[in-house]
Amino acid sequence: MSVQYQAIGWNRQKRIYDGTLVGSVALYLALFVGIGSWLHPNATAETLLIRGFGTAAILLLHVILSIGPLCRLNRRFLPLLYNRRHLGVTTFLLALVHGVFSIVQFHSLGDVNPLVSLFVSNPRYASFVQFPFQSLGFFALVILFLMAATSHDFWLHNLTAAVWKRLHMFVYLAYALLVAHVTLGALQSERSLLLAATLAAGLGTVVALHLAAARREHRTDETAPVKALDGFVDVCDANAIPEKQAAVVCVGGERVAVFRYDGKISAVSNVCRHQNGPLGEGRIVDGCITCPWHGYQYKPETGAAPPPFTEKVETFPVRIRNGRVQIHPRANAPGTFVEPARLEGAVMRTYDAQFR
Ligand code: HEM
Ligand code: FES
Repeated sequence: MSVQYQAIGWNRQKRIYDGTLVGSVALYLALFVGIGSWLHPNATAETLLIRGFGTAAILLLHVILSIGPLCRLNRRFLPLLYNRRHLGVTTFLLALVHGVFSIVQFHSLGDVNPLVSLFVSNPRYASFVQFPFQSLGFFALVILFLMAATSHDFWLHNLTAAVWKRLHMFVYLAYALLVAHVTLGALQSERSLLLAATLAAGLGTVVALHLAAARREHRTDETAPVKALDGFVDVCDANAIPEKQAAVVCVGGERVAVFRYDGKISAVSNVCRHQNGPLGEGRIVDGCITCPWHGYQYKPETGAAPPPFTEKVETFPVRIRNGRVQIHPRANAPGTFVEPARLEGAVMRTYDAQFR
C-alpha cells in the first residue's frame, strides 16, 4: 500500500503562525545573547549560543505540551493548536543546534570520536550528582528528531493514526529526559539555581494543566446515562445543544458528539480521524462537522468526509423522546448513514425561544 505525498498547503493563517514563531524565537535568542553578554562579559559567544538555543528549545517544548490541555479548558487557545507541528520541528532544530554546539565545544578536541566521547568522557553513571547528563539530552534529541521527521501528514497516513499517535506520545519521555538533563546539568555547574527553579515552575504548570484538563474530561465521562429497555440511552436535553454545535456525552465508554443542525440531531464518534481531535468541540460549517483542530470535515448523517476526502468516523443510532436525545451505544461502521432525529413542535419552539 502506498500513500500519496501532498506538499504542505500554505495559507494566510499558517504564514502568520510561522512568521510569529520565527520572529519570537529570533527575538528570544537576540535578547538572551545580548543580556547574557552584558551580565557575563567573560562568557564566550559559544557558551551564550549553547545556552540560548537550549533554553529556547525547552521553553518551546513547554508551550507545545501546554497547548493540548489549554485547548481542552478554553477554546480561545485553539488557533495555537492548528500548526503545533511546526512548533515541534522548530523545537528539534533549536535543540539540534544546542546539541551540536555542545558536542563541538566539549567533545571534539580529543582523539576520541566526539559522539563516543559524549558517552565515555564522564563514566560516573552510578552517581546522581555527577551523572553524565549530556547523554540524557542526546536521547531526548533522538526522540525529538523522530517526531519532527514523521510530523507530516504523509507519515500520519502511512503509519496509521494509532501508531503515529503512540510515537508522538514519546514527547513525554523526551520531556522527562530533558528535565533530568537540565536539572543534573544545573547541579553540576556553579551557576545559580535560577534555571532549575524556572524549570520546576514550568514542570508544575504542565502537570497542573494536564490534571485540570483530565478532571474536566472525567466529569463528562462520569455522568451515567439512563438506559431504556430497547438499549437506547438517554443522554441530554435536545434544547441544551446550541444550533450547529454539539454536546459531548459518554455512551458505553465511548465519547460521542451529538450535533444539532437545521432542526435535526445526529451522533458521531467524538474522535477525529486526523489526530484524534475532539469533533464535539467543533461546529457545523457548510453542512459538515468541522474539527476544531485542523478543520477536517465530516457529514453529520454519515460520518464520512465530503469527496474527494475519504476519512470516516463511526455514527450512532439516535432518536428524540419527550425532548430528550437518546442514543444507541452500539456504534455503526465508520461512514454508515443514520437517519437524523427530527426536532419537532414543542422542542423546536422551546429551542427558538432560547437561542434565537
Ligand atoms: C546531543 C544532545 C545534547 C547535548 C550534548 C547537550 C549538552 C548540554 C550541555 C553541555 C549543557 C551545559 C551547558 C552549559 O552549562 O553551558 C546543556 C545544558 C542544557 N541543555 Fe542540553 N544537550 C543536548 C540536548 C539537549 C536538548 C534536546 C535540549 C532541549 C530540548 C537541551 C536543553 C538544555 C538546556 C535548557 C540546558 C541548560 C541551559 C543552560 O545551561 O543555560 N539539551 N546541554
Ligand atoms: S485532529 Fe486534525 S483535523 Fe481533526
